[in-house]
Amino acid sequence: MIRPAIPADLDALIRLEARFSGDRLSRRAFRHHLASPLAHCLVAESASGPVGYVLLLRRARSPWWRLYSLVRDAGAPPGTGRCLALAGLAAARDAGARGVRLEVRADNAPAIRLYRALGFTLFATVDDYYEDGAPALRMALAFAD
Ligand SMILES: CC(C)(COP(=O)(O)OP(=O)(O)OC[C@H]1O[C@@H](n2cnc3c(N)ncnc32)[C@H](O)[C@@H]1OP(=O)(O)O)[C@@H](O)C(=O)NCCC(=O)NCCS
Repeated sequence: MIRPAIPADLDALIRLEARFSGDRLSRRAFRHHLASPLAHCLVAESASGPVGYVLLLRRARSPWWRLYSLVRDAGAPPGTGRCLALAGLAAARDAGARGVRLEVRADNAPAIRLYRALGFTLFATVDDYYEDGAPALRMALAFAD
């Protein structure tokens, strides 16, 4: 089941964030996002609690949303990430977004594969984007009119 994240999910969100080697969102950042009308955070829920989340951000004057973070628990079923991403894209589309952009580590093959499968295409690369100096790929998916 995919549902909007709530403050009671904070511990689970922080646990999921441990899958990232760096550039992790802090509890304070999550708290801020969960209260912000410009953020859209969804969790995938299993019997044991949240097993993944997707966070999309938008800016007041931009028609483009940003897929800011996506993660599933290593033990969650394959495809959980895809379901979350699809739910996030649907929310952006329903809200009238023109499309969604994202940054992904250039060495994150599973994530890049998923984004390509969803229709994202590369439009730029950014050197030294992450805390450890790794480059990012910038990808975008424009919604059809
Ligand atoms: C990136 C991430 C969210 C992708 O999530 P996911 O659930 O693994 O996504 P996918 O839908 O691509 O599924 C993974 C594999 O299972 C397969 N799969 C999908 N649905 C399936 C199903 N119902 N049954 C069996 N296999 C399935 C997919 O085909 C895919 O295989 P492939 O890698 O050979 O293409 C996940 O790997 C993750 O959390 N990584 C760590 C955090 C991270 O890097 N996030 C991205 C930051 S930009």
